[in-house]
Amino acid sequence: MSGHGPAQVMTATKSGPLIGRAEVPGDKSISHRALIFGAMAVGETRITGLLEGQDVLDTASAMRAFGAEVTQHGQGAWSVHGVGVGGFREPTGVIDFGNSGTGVRLIMGAMATTAMTATFTGDASLRKRPMGRVTDPLALFGTQAYGRRGGRLPMTLVGAANPVPVRYTTPMPSAQVKSAVLLAGLNAPGQTVVIEREATRDHSERMLVGFGAELVVEQTDEGNVITLTGQPDLRPQVVAVPRDPSSAAFPVCAALIVEGSDIFVPGVSQNLTRNGVYLTLVEMGADITFENPREEGGEPVADLRVKFSEMTGIEVPPERAPSMIDEYPVLAVVAANATGRTVMRGIKELRVKESDRIDAMARGLEACGVMVEEDEDTLIVHGRGPGSMPGGATCATHLDHRIAMSFLVAGMASVAPISIDDASPIATSFPLFEGLMTGLGATLTKA
Ligand code: S3P
Repeated sequence: MSGHGPAQVMTATKSGPLIGRAEVPGDKSISHRALIFGAMAVGETRITGLLEGQDVLDTASAMRAFGAEVTQHGQGAWSVHGVGVGGFREPTGVIDFGNSGTGVRLIMGAMATTAMTATFTGDASLRKRPMGRVTDPLALFGTQAYGRRGGRLPMTLVGAANPVPVRYTTPMPSAQVKSAVLLAGLNAPGQTVVIEREATRDHSERMLVGFGAELVVEQTDEGNVITLTGQPDLRPQVVAVPRDPSSAAFPVCAALIVEGSDIFVPGVSQNLTRNGVYLTLVEMGADITFENPREEGGEPVADLRVKFSEMTGIEVPPERAPSMIDEYPVLAVVAANATGRTVMRGIKELRVKESDRIDAMARGLEACGVMVEEDEDTLIVHGRGPGSMPGGATCATHLDHRIAMSFLVAGMASVAPISIDDASPIATSFPLFEGLMTGLGATLTKA
């Protein structure tokens, strides 16, 4: 769906301690993939814990447009009647992915090797984002793409009628690019190989194996070499989606910076390709305990107990960036409440997310009285110390859910309140954010 509701100004005011249980929603990456792989299996996939954020709902609509039957049975409980690899039918209208880069890029890959034409668009944020990173490797299979200049949406893809398998090294650390190539490889004969120099989130690989594909990952000097054998019969699965570590980072970081807080966040995925922010917070001095580690739905999960902490700035190891790429905005807020400098290098991918996240955080933090330095690939935040961020500004969110939530978290601990110009994008990934945070004791008010 293009566009969100009307712009909704929201203000966060210094809160008393955050106390209680924070049940965060299902993982966004796994939710998209459960719907897409389910649509490419033959028979009924059952999903529990699906994130019902707008991004994932848009992927559900897209899978219906390609011929799968997608049904909601109850909260988070969904089924997908798949049409099999190569079984998509040509959509009759333009597919609108709203704000979702993951949805559009993965589904471009999924249809790229079937003889059909599909046209994709999105909201003002998604129409600014580069699609060439996906359509370039898809061209190697024989797929043609016709978009706006600079490889922007709206864009029409003509799927390859006689696809050839591909060997492709991803030029940037991107799970979306890797996954698009693997999805295209599903309907190509022979072996498609993706090489990634830096490991990115591995949900596609894990889930494809679960759905019965022949997929092997080798760790070599070149990086991870992923080999997929094309044209498998994917078997429907029962998918239990774990809670999203990226969404969990918002209440976790809020509890760390609001004095006296003590919260419990159950069942959060601790997948090693996603948990970089938690390692970083602990290195900064965060009091987080990881209780009852176990496996749920094929992913390692743990219950998190988080208490207010006085933290110190660090140099975040740049090689950790892919495992915490979506968490830098809220980490920058924690850094502003720490003592000393936090240096975040190797993060230029943040410039092509739902917004230019380095710029959005730098400008917003400056407006709130925090000194920052930046270059193309770096953000440095000079901490003000616990609870000492001045605040008192309205920050621009640029249709970016994570920027919106980050500045609301900042306002829960700042001296003066912090407003955001538009809270509506939060619904793309964390529709219950406001209720969950106020339930813990946060003060959030709408204009
Ligand atoms: C995602 C991959 C990441 C991440 C996004 C979800 C995925 O994007 O930022 O929120 O589900 O594959 P990139 O692949 O562009 O790094």
